[in-house]
Amino acid sequence: MQIVILKNAAEVAAYGADIFTQQLARNPGSVLGLATGSTPVALYQELIRRNQAGTVSFSKAKTFNLDEYLGLNGEHPQSYRYFMNEQLFNHIDINKENTHVPPGDAKNPIEACKEYEARISAADGIDVQLLGIGRNGHIGFNEPSSGLTSRTRVKTLTKATIDDNARFFAADEYQPHLSITMGIGTILDARKVVLLATGENKADAVHAMIEGPLTAACPASALQMHRHAVIVLDEGAASKLKDIEFYKHIEAENQKLQEYLASL
Ligand code: PGA
Repeated sequence: MQIVILKNAAEVAAYGADIFTQQLARNPGSVLGLATGSTPVALYQELIRRNQAGTVSFSKAKTFNLDEYLGLNGEHPQSYRYFMNEQLFNHIDINKENTHVPPGDAKNPIEACKEYEARISAADGIDVQLLGIGRNGHIGFNEPSSGLTSRTRVKTLTKATIDDNARFFAADEYQPHLSITMGIGTILDARKVVLLATGENKADAVHAMIEGPLTAACPASALQMHRHAVIVLDEGAASKLKDIEFYKHIEAENQKLQEYLASL
């Protein structure tokens, strides 16, 4: 895992935006894995700004989102399809037909999960997958105890996640307890993963992910098995890491290595 520790959430968003910008510059037809939640919003705002300034284009890109609430269709304001349209897709030059979010209103959700996997494979897999992390260590809606090789499937949300997300729903509004989510195996198949975490309330989960054992009890710890995982943290999210100085040291050395390689 590459562990990047930055000062604040704005720097985390800019670092994440750079990764996507560079990926699209290398390959305009990249397949991007996207995420919802509060954390990626600042990154999406930065990508919108860059797209409108003409420094990045999504016109040939394809996207696959991690997850969706089961039982909500894309017009529902709390659905993740609605979130993605509002927070990103409506403001950039992407062809909406190339954007994919698991169908929360599928008549046959089990089949829909298989189809989602097939579509990712048909697109030749995901080049860069964006992730957040739940306070309980979830990635996507892969809650603790999720199989570490799981594929896209219907998952029950934990009480902790339902409580964390209740802030998005009105008091009398129906809040789903089920979801469709890419599996941990699906996420691990992405050629690169970029996990962003900001704020002290993520510090325990970040510690478990990086310094704890590889365990289904902390689904994000599966990233320890990934060949190219970049974990981008602000000081708050990094605050419970035991080896923080070592991670900063490696990053400084990495930068020197990049400069050296560029000079050859
Ligand atoms: P958050 O959610 O960005 O809203 O904190 C992250 C997650 O649950 O994956």
